[in-house]
Amino acid sequence: MASILLTGGAGYIGSHTYVALTQAGHDVVIIDNFSNAGRGVPGRLARITGAPVTCLEGSVLDAQFLDDVFAKHSFDAVVHFAALKAVGESVEKPLDYIETNGQGLITLLRAMEKASVFRLVFSSSATVYGIPDETPTPETAPRRAINPYGFTKIMGEEVLEQLATNDARWAFGTLRYFNPAGAHSSGLIGEDPGDTPNNLMPYIARVATGDLPQISVFGDDYDTPDGTGVRDYIHVEDLAQGHVLSLDALLRSSQSHLVNLGTGQGYSVLEMLSAYSAACGRDLPYKIAPRRSGDVPIYCAAPEKAKKLLGFEARRTLQDMCSSSWNWVAQRPRGN
Ligand code: WQD
Repeated sequence: MASILLTGGAGYIGSHTYVALTQAGHDVVIIDNFSNAGRGVPGRLARITGAPVTCLEGSVLDAQFLDDVFAKHSFDAVVHFAALKAVGESVEKPLDYIETNGQGLITLLRAMEKASVFRLVFSSSATVYGIPDETPTPETAPRRAINPYGFTKIMGEEVLEQLATNDARWAFGTLRYFNPAGAHSSGLIGEDPGDTPNNLMPYIARVATGDLPQISVFGDDYDTPDGTGVRDYIHVEDLAQGHVLSLDALLRSSQSHLVNLGTGQGYSVLEMLSAYSAACGRDLPYKIAPRRSGDVPIYCAAPEKAKKLLGFEARRTLQDMCSSSWNWVAQRPRGN
């Protein structure tokens, strides 16, 4: 059992990781500024885990706030989610992304060093691969920043590599997510984008509930089996388990690791639509729309390294992702 600080722990992936970490026996404190998380999430986490939740409101950019939190707790490690993560928004607000994702990480690392906490699991993204030359994409593929969001994740990875290489006190677990999807089996937490969703599954979910009229399929002329974009969707509960395994590895040794978290299986937009229709029990209206700028035909993880290093293997299916998402949105409390 370890004492863990979970930054951004009220967010989509953070909240599911909170559940997985507490169920693995860890003692977890959440910090979150609620810029992209509902204020009702900590209460629902308490219902899922059956125990009180310590969630402190504040920003990873606030050095004094962080020092106060570290002074009150004796953490063994940090799992760091608190960041901005919308590719399109990053193009509009690059400095916001560099400040929050870049400076936020550095401020957090400073607070950790002052408190002699030298283990961190870092939330990275397949976006660091830019437009990959090969798919499935291995961790050895070059990093290419094709948008400010991806740049900030590459910057974060390189900062951690510099620290670990030059200061043996540090060890990091860098996790490159592919496409998180789905919701917790309880239906109490899930993806809850405040405004109109950018990502495919939450958008489909809003059409399934009738909040949006139809799905726009961004291009059907890609070099893929049915012409629509293919992505490696991974159930958010599998993703959360990947964080538990990464943390355990860091607590056992001083070795850093960097792995993809994906399934290795890609699904197209039309396949996702069909799976979601089966989950919600009705055909969902869609139209073929122009390609979205910045999209690539296929993103798919080579998952072997995570299995070899961490024993990680995604278990849940696309149908599990769709049915858990539908179970969540059908009962989701509006607005929190
Ligand atoms: C998936 C597919 C779209 C919406 C993004 C970020 C990435 C990561 C995951 C943070 C694509 C198509 C989508 C729609 C559609 N986030 N689509 N109609 O772009 O693969 O990855 O989220 O780490 O960094 O880039 O995910 O869900 O937006 O798109 O046809 O209304 O669905 O073209 O083929 P993406 P997505």
